[in-house]
Amino acid sequence: MSATPGKNPYRPGAATVPLHLAGRDVQIKRFRKLLAGAPELPANLRLTGLRGVGKSVLLRELESVANASGWVAARRQLEPRHNTEDELCALLAAVASAAGRRASRLGALKGAVTDAWVATRGLLNVTIEDVTFSLAGGGQAETTLAEALFDAVETAVRSGHEGFVLLLDEAQVLHDDTDRGGEHPLSMLVAAVNALQESGLPIALVLCGLPTLRAHLQKARTYSERMFRAETIGELEGNPGAARDAFVEPLRSTGITADEALIARVLEEVEGYPFFIQLWGAELWDAATSLGFDRFTEQMLDAIEGQIYERLDEEFYAGRVETLTPSEQDVLMLSGQCPYPPLRTSDIRARSDKSDGNINVLMGRLTEQGVIYRIQKGQYAYTAPKFAEYLRRRAQA
Ligand SMILES: Nc1ncnc2c1ncn2[C@@H]1O[C@H](COP(=O)(O)OP(=O)(O)OP(=O)(O)O)[C@@H](O)[C@H]1O
Ligand SMILES: [Mg+2]
Repeated sequence: MSATPGKNPYRPGAATVPLHLAGRDVQIKRFRKLLAGAPELPANLRLTGLRGVGKSVLLRELESVANASGWVAARRQLEPRHNTEDELCALLAAVASAAGRRASRLGALKGAVTDAWVATRGLLNVTIEDVTFSLAGGGQAETTLAEALFDAVETAVRSGHEGFVLLLDEAQVLHDDTDRGGEHPLSMLVAAVNALQESGLPIALVLCGLPTLRAHLQKARTYSERMFRAETIGELEGNPGAARDAFVEPLRSTGITADEALIARVLEEVEGYPFFIQLWGAELWDAATSLGFDRFTEQMLDAIEGQIYERLDEEFYAGRVETLTPSEQDVLMLSGQCPYPPLRTSDIRARSDKSDGNINVLMGRLTEQGVIYRIQKGQYAYTAPKFAEYLRRRAQA
């Protein structure tokens, strides 16, 4: 029996840093290299993955990597309301100026910066006019944004830093309108960053979000997708391997252990999805400590599995369905009866009494709200892992 168990070492949640960040060493190393190659090579990263797979905690880690590498980093989570040129520009200008102020304060501690340093960071002979000149044709917001970013980069370098890194989470909320007169916030952002990078300045942009981010970039400026190094974050693998580490490592030095048979069962059930690993761990921990046990066992899992699924459905899935309109929910629930993956519009049509046009509109709205994403014409996938199983459970409830 364990003496006094400490706090629950598992962290199921949104962007809650796990005790042990498993299986992301490769991505972290690649990011460090990417920054080291700037400004000669633009250091932009597109980080995509399904819900709950660990994008936000990795983004936090990349922010720390940037800081530790001598860059000034600013991280923000975007919201749907930022999807206009003015809103995005206002937000990023504020973020850039706060980062600049922070850089100056740190710079004051570092002491004087030489011209030689400023030259290595590409800033000696470059002015904001050089940058905005190459933006000719862009709107006012684009110029304002480029100026704000330029100021942040300049302050960062003149305070002895390598450059400025902007990290944006939930970046799939940005997408350009198709008509010329519409809003083009994503193009505005990539054009402003590209203009600075073409002038040789050390700015790095990390865009993190759902898989739709990729299509949004493809539809923005012609060069936008090529500007980014792509990193797809997936489930953790292996026993032994990252999935096992994510489950077992938090128990280290807690006085509680997990039986091998239990570990194997959990790993099979969670399919390597980080949120699920944290949730299963947290519930097993509560069960073990409330019973006064010092081991996670299979019997324990048998006893609480139903309760784990209830919590999973409530915390991870239900919110995604309940914010939808009744007709969006209808189509989504119907999709749960279709073969998967992928989800085919034709299968939904065959099961629905709604018109084809209506179904297309509803699929578009589900995509816009980030519940599904388009793979190709007429084919979709859910953005949350194991969502098809959830819909089946929900249909039976
Ligand atoms: N590499 C990892 N090792 C262990 N646990 C992890 C890892 N990555 C994420 N987690 C855990 O998984 C959960 C989800 O992480 P996070 O919020 O970063 O996912 P996300 O991909 O940003 O999800 P969403 O798309 O919903 O924003 C958190 O509880 C976090 O602690
Ligand atoms: Mg996230």
